[in-house]
Amino acid sequence: MASDFRGQRVLVTGGAGFVGSNLVRRLVAEDAEVTILDDFFTGRLENLRGIPPEAYRLVRGSVTDSELVRQLVSEAEFVFHLAARNIIASTRNPYEDFKTNIGGTLNVLLAARECRPQRVLYTSSVSVYGNPRYLPINEDDRISLLTPYAVSKYSGEGYCQAFYESYGVPVVVVRYSNVYGPWQDPQNPYCGVVAKFMQRAQAGMPLEIHGDGQQTRDFTFVEDVVEATIQAALSPKSEGEVFNIGTGVETSVETLAHLVSDLYGLEVAPLHIDRRDIDNIRRRVVNIEKIRRTLRWTPNVTLAEGLYRTQRWNEECTSGEILP
Ligand SMILES: NC(=O)c1ccc[n+]([C@@H]2O[C@H](COP(=O)([O-])OP(=O)(O)OC[C@H]3O[C@@H](n4cnc5c(N)ncnc54)[C@H](O)[C@@H]3O)[C@@H](O)[C@H]2O)c1
Repeated sequence: MASDFRGQRVLVTGGAGFVGSNLVRRLVAEDAEVTILDDFFTGRLENLRGIPPEAYRLVRGSVTDSELVRQLVSEAEFVFHLAARNIIASTRNPYEDFKTNIGGTLNVLLAARECRPQRVLYTSSVSVYGNPRYLPINEDDRISLLTPYAVSKYSGEGYCQAFYESYGVPVVVVRYSNVYGPWQDPQNPYCGVVAKFMQRAQAGMPLEIHGDGQQTRDFTFVEDVVEATIQAALSPKSEGEVFNIGTGVETSVETLAHLVSDLYGLEVAPLHIDRRDIDNIRRRVVNIEKIRRTLRWTPNVTLAEGLYRTQRWNEECTSGEILP
């Protein structure tokens, strides 16, 4: 494991969330001095379980608090900006999304313009592509903003680019694609489909598929996502760049349901229920050539392996080896 973060002061906004807590674990393992800023909208203290409390500082607060953000950014060499309202919360309340996802990002960038950390990494989403014209989707393909969440995540990207070009703020943008894995909370009503399927499978209940199940996604294991995020933050080659982070493998929700059912030995067939208002993307799989070429990052974990490792983690939680 590289130790480029040893002794570095790192701010992780949204560090008590799903991806954030996995990233914090990794940074702490690399002996970084980690500060987490989280308002616990979807974040949980439990996500940080097992990390020695003295290994990080936890600040309860919001990225919408510009003074607090300025203070924390001024103390950091690296800023990982993950705090965000997710797609479901955002669709229900676009104004809250606007305040956190756009306003919060602007606060981070304004602070970075003044305080000059070595790098600001902004986590965007493949949602910005909407329904793509071509597959797999390249970073410079058409942007199509079909949800308020896509608008806010892309606005954050726009500000990153503008602050890079106008003020020389050293930013990098990563677009995540359907992340899954340990510490994704199935109790969280906003969590992704893998955690929801696993929760029902574990209870022996039929999996619920919204629509016909032929919608496809590029499911990415969180450990791979964390590795790509770290590399993007460290590499001099990534400054000012935008990278897709995915696997390049397209999987239908129906296929995912079968994989999860097989893993749990579930004998009941999935139920097809109504589409939701956020289910307006038919097919999605990203091209990861750019990050592969630039940073030499490739995903290591296949979907079957990632599901297996997530199931094992769920079982350890249930058995009390890890308390969720
Ligand atoms: N999980 C995915 O599949 C996925 C896909 C694309 C992009 N992303 C992006 O990755 C990032 C992390 O996502 P996640 O899946 O870990 O979601 P998450 O909801 O688990 O984490 C987000 C964290 O941000 C915190 N937060 C929300 N509003 C805040 C505010 N105003 N101030 C401070 N903290 C706040 C939440 O409490 C939570 O801990 C987000 O920016 C998200 O948009 C995730």
